[in-house]
Amino acid sequence: MTAEYKVLGDVAVITLANPPVNGLGYATRVGITEGLSKALDDAAVKAIVLTGAGKAFSGGADIKEFGTPKAIQDPNLLSVILALEHSTKPIVAAIHSVCMGGGLELALGCHYRVAAPGTSVALPEVKLGLIPGAGGTQRLPRVLGVETALNMIVSGEPVKSELLASLPGQKLFDKLAASPESLFDEAVEFAKSVAAKGGDLPLVRNLPCKHPQGDAYFQFARNTVGAMSKNYPAPLKCVDAAEAATKRKFDDGMAEERRHFTNLMFTPESVALRHLFMAERAASRIPDVADDTPQRTIKTVGVIGAGTMGGGISMNFLNAGIPVTILETKQEALDRGVATIRKNYEAQVKKGKLKADKYDQRMSLLKTTLSYDDLKDADLIIEAVFEELGVKEKVFGELDRVAKPGAILASNTSTLDVDKIAAFTKRPQDVIGMHFFSPANVMKLLEVVRGAKTGKDVLATVMSVAKKIKKTAVVSGVCDGFIGNRMIEQYSRQAGFLLDEGATPQQVDKAVEKFGFAMGPFRMGDLAGNDIGWAIRKRRSVDFPDMKYSRTADKLCELGRFGQKTGAGWYDYKAGKRDAIPSALVDKMIEEHRKELGITPRKISDDEIVQRLVYALVNEGAHILEDGIASKSGDIDMVYLTGYGFPIWRGGPMHYANQVGLYNVAEAMKRFAKNPRDDASFWQPAPLIQKLVADGKQFG
Ligand SMILES: NC(=O)c1ccc[n+]([C@@H]2O[C@H](COP(=O)([O-])OP(=O)(O)OC[C@H]3O[C@@H](n4cnc5c(N)ncnc54)[C@H](O)[C@@H]3O)[C@@H](O)[C@H]2O)c1
Repeated sequence: MTAEYKVLGDVAVITLANPPVNGLGYATRVGITEGLSKALDDAAVKAIVLTGAGKAFSGGADIKEFGTPKAIQDPNLLSVILALEHSTKPIVAAIHSVCMGGGLELALGCHYRVAAPGTSVALPEVKLGLIPGAGGTQRLPRVLGVETALNMIVSGEPVKSELLASLPGQKLFDKLAASPESLFDEAVEFAKSVAAKGGDLPLVRNLPCKHPQGDAYFQFARNTVGAMSKNYPAPLKCVDAAEAATKRKFDDGMAEERRHFTNLMFTPESVALRHLFMAERAASRIPDVADDTPQRTIKTVGVIGAGTMGGGISMNFLNAGIPVTILETKQEALDRGVATIRKNYEAQVKKGKLKADKYDQRMSLLKTTLSYDDLKDADLIIEAVFEELGVKEKVFGELDRVAKPGAILASNTSTLDVDKIAAFTKRPQDVIGMHFFSPANVMKLLEVVRGAKTGKDVLATVMSVAKKIKKTAVVSGVCDGFIGNRMIEQYSRQAGFLLDEGATPQQVDKAVEKFGFAMGPFRMGDLAGNDIGWAIRKRRSVDFPDMKYSRTADKLCELGRFGQKTGAGWYDYKAGKRDAIPSALVDKMIEEHRKELGITPRKISDDEIVQRLVYALVNEGAHILEDGIASKSGDIDMVYLTGYGFPIWRGGPMHYANQVGLYNVAEAMKRFAKNPRDDASFWQPAPLIQKLVADGKQFG
């Protein structure tokens, strides 16, 4: 049981005690109803206080139970709330810290609510592709008014209790406590006073719920919400449910809410969003690194290289209040790097996203140097110099010379072997990859590359540093391209074959963008610079001479069409503009290439385009799991959702493959293997996929 019961004088106290956030799983719900029964049976008890232990009143439902019989096993949240409403003794919710989702719905079932200032109050179900399912859409409009409540329900965003308490006419809180410390005593006193007063016990369900211009308001809400939530069904259902609160009897409104909630639970969007929620939390757990692994202290950071990545990486730490020293070989490079950082911050100040004093504060944490000796006290040093092993060797040699014992030495390399880099030092246990994505101050993803000798404490420390700088960190083993780029290579290879076989860059991009990717492969190439892939292919043609790929991308680069930076790539660009204009020259180049290969172009469907690109990710992802480069399929999904613009509502490539059915995915792969223009050996379904299909199982 995860709720405690005690009696203080004539007040019974039920305390949710299910750390970390008092989730309302089955055992907690049983705890509440058992406490309630005891209180009702005890003649000495006159009133009841319901509160939460530790860091929350309640963070809401236990999402691990969603979609399982446990979620509806009696007492379920609805029946617990009904039991609270039926209580003959007044129940006061003493709300503090976090009161969200089912937690808020529980509080709304109590007769009274006393809140501590600073409490985060929200109905965040929409972020999981759902609507509140235990009366939130029916009760919140009754205490806050329809518009405020619907704003909260549709956004899912938390609002502070003191702000809500200040709204005129609000009935959410009967009292705002003076401080979090005094909340409990004030709630007990409040309970005593309402018990002494006697009379009918108020219920939120009995409050009126009207909007003076209901029809117009809900039409307006639907238009706005519909336009903003294209790929997600839940937000519009929030509007429907709130409207029902204003037009129907309470119990009928509850039934409508339930209907929407249950239907949404099985939509692919909600399943994907819940997968993302769990995968994000799971990514920070590493199978063989215990949660209590000792960590090193990171108070100061050194960054080597003030280029594109070095500057962005530095900003992450400055934003988190951690001092940074950047090292370069020349003063001009330092000046350029610092000027870019300034420019980025100034743009944020101009847009009102950063206060001027915060900007000054951040810049004051930044130092620059040309001498390695200035890095002797740094706790973490991240290298972001040119992508050449020889340059990395020099840098890590210097770091080995000056860095204090116990300093963590990280490389931002995208493609080089982290174990080789570690071997340039006499302390390979302290070396790790921290692969940021560009722009490093914006992109959420951080691939943490674990070398063969990387210390567990180093890994644990870097994972928690990542959290501090607000990155989603995913651990990858050492291999060419790590998780993300190793997979994208297969995706790009397919994009190239599609051009050879008859597609145009714009057709491929459109199909993939319609699927939901932020950008198709060719627009992406133009943005990132086609020369980067060119250089990698040149290197790989030495390492993997038999690798089959389309030569179109090389031909494009031979024409100097590197992308937006050269004003032309797969598309044409007007000076200073980013709009991709289909290029007749590129079409001709592709046609000539087909002729050279003797290919008669064929019409390729959008479905084939999407399947070949996405299943290429899936097959390589499966090999990555087989090789132990990623420890779980959810990690691969996190990489693609946070670093590669994979559509969030599809849950990442591996989750998407589960949804399609691995049998279907494997069959499609076998079909692609028969295409003489494609790479038959690549399209053999990975052994892991074959095994999962044979066992009737899925990834994860
Ligand atoms: N650009 C990206 O999208 C991206 C993404 C992830 C990782 N990376 C990796 O990050 C690293 C840096 O890439 P970038 O795009 O920032 O390159 P960049 O060319 O913009 O910057 C590199 C900087 O390093 C400096 N430098 C070179 N040798 C040095 C040395 N010996 N000591 C100190 N400074 C030195 C250069 O003066 C330059 O300012 C590379 O390893 C790259 O593979 C790049």
